[in-house]
Amino acid sequence: MNRTTMRETEPDRPALIFTPEVKADSPRVLAELRARGPVQRVRLGNGLAAWAVLSYEEARAALTHPDLRHDPTPSEKALEAVGYTVHKPGHGVGGSMLQLDPPDHTRLRRLVAPAFSPRRTRLLTERVHEITAGLLDAMAPRGEADLVEAFTAPLPVTVICELLGIPAADRDSFRRWTGDFLGLPSDRQRAAGLSLNGYVAELVERKLAEPADDLLSDLTLQSSTQDGRLSRAELIGTAVLLVIAGHDTTVNLIGNAMVALFRAPHQADLLRARPELVEQAVEEFLRLDSSVEASTLRFAANDLELAGVRIRRGDVVAVYLGQASRDAPQAEGTDPAVLDVTRPGPRHVAFGHGIHHCLGAPLARMEASVAIGALLRRFPDLRLAVPLDDLCWIPVGMMRGPLELPVRFTP
Ligand code: HEM
Repeated sequence: MNRTTMRETEPDRPALIFTPEVKADSPRVLAELRARGPVQRVRLGNGLAAWAVLSYEEARAALTHPDLRHDPTPSEKALEAVGYTVHKPGHGVGGSMLQLDPPDHTRLRRLVAPAFSPRRTRLLTERVHEITAGLLDAMAPRGEADLVEAFTAPLPVTVICELLGIPAADRDSFRRWTGDFLGLPSDRQRAAGLSLNGYVAELVERKLAEPADDLLSDLTLQSSTQDGRLSRAELIGTAVLLVIAGHDTTVNLIGNAMVALFRAPHQADLLRARPELVEQAVEEFLRLDSSVEASTLRFAANDLELAGVRIRRGDVVAVYLGQASRDAPQAEGTDPAVLDVTRPGPRHVAFGHGIHHCLGAPLARMEASVAIGALLRRFPDLRLAVPLDDLCWIPVGMMRGPLELPVRFTP
């Protein structure tokens, strides 16, 4: 039976539900599915039927296909039937660029893009070094730590909160809300979305009354002075998106990179001996085990074909960026399954592709390079305090990363 006819009756549609067991082992589970073909009919959480895109070329084709869009209207019935939440303005990232198609996407992205340009990011580098050094200083005397709690989590949160102008006292609430928001669709996720929106709406009022030298004040000013360019709902959705997109992703990139180095200590030794390789190494970490295992969904606005599979108007498409990155063809003679921090220009789609390509990619790359470089330099004998197989992974949602990283080192 070919795949197109299988779709008519769908007798053996594999469930691709990121339960805790699947999540702990998701690269293997997704690779097995990929072996059946690059575009597979699957059932997601809540029973939603979707096309899973699992390979590099097909992922790039899907993410640039003009008929695969964010507008969920053609799929609304299917989504409603399984109670799937589409984020509307006023909830989570609803009203942000990530949920929009052109021309609204283009307008919003243009307003925010200058703040994340490579030049602006370079200006932040010194501050990221300072925050990193402060966290490592605090960790050092103890000789042991949970690296997630002490380092990989607070670093990106501090950076994004300082950039946006979110008071230090509120950062713990932010971490809790974003964690819940990235979980499975549930009452808890909905409540977290509303809390985030409510908090940001209040903060926007404060920035209007007392503008400061931060990104949220700049955006607030644009929304109030340039009527029609950025509505209040869009402003709030944008700020919530930046907080969510800007932190757990980077926390888990750094965490996964450290796990990869604990698994291959000779690669850590190589990075210590040749610290100039760190930026190239970050590309390799992004390729091999990035933090975003699945992408957001796309909805077919018209009938189309992907890898010979017919996709109908209203069908749901889910692009698995982690698997697509691991599937990307690499330079000849190299083994794509192996971590190689000297790999020349690894190809991946860890930051997505096309018009929604991650706006914060320069910031994420810089933060990860600074963090990993500083950790290896500061603690030459940094090691995991538990067996690799005992690590616990984020149990639900689209994000992949270790929940805790108990480590030991000489103070
Ligand atoms: C979009 C990954 C860090 C801001 C995206 C997308 C991916 C991604 C895959 C595209 C999603 C899609 O097409 O559905 C990552 C990873 C990161 C990271 C792996 C870290 C390792 C950041 C940071 C920021 C950021 C630090 C900024 C503070 C954004 C924004 C978008 C986005 C604003 C939406 C762009 C658009 O819709 O045009 N990111 N991201 N990200 N990311 Fe990131």
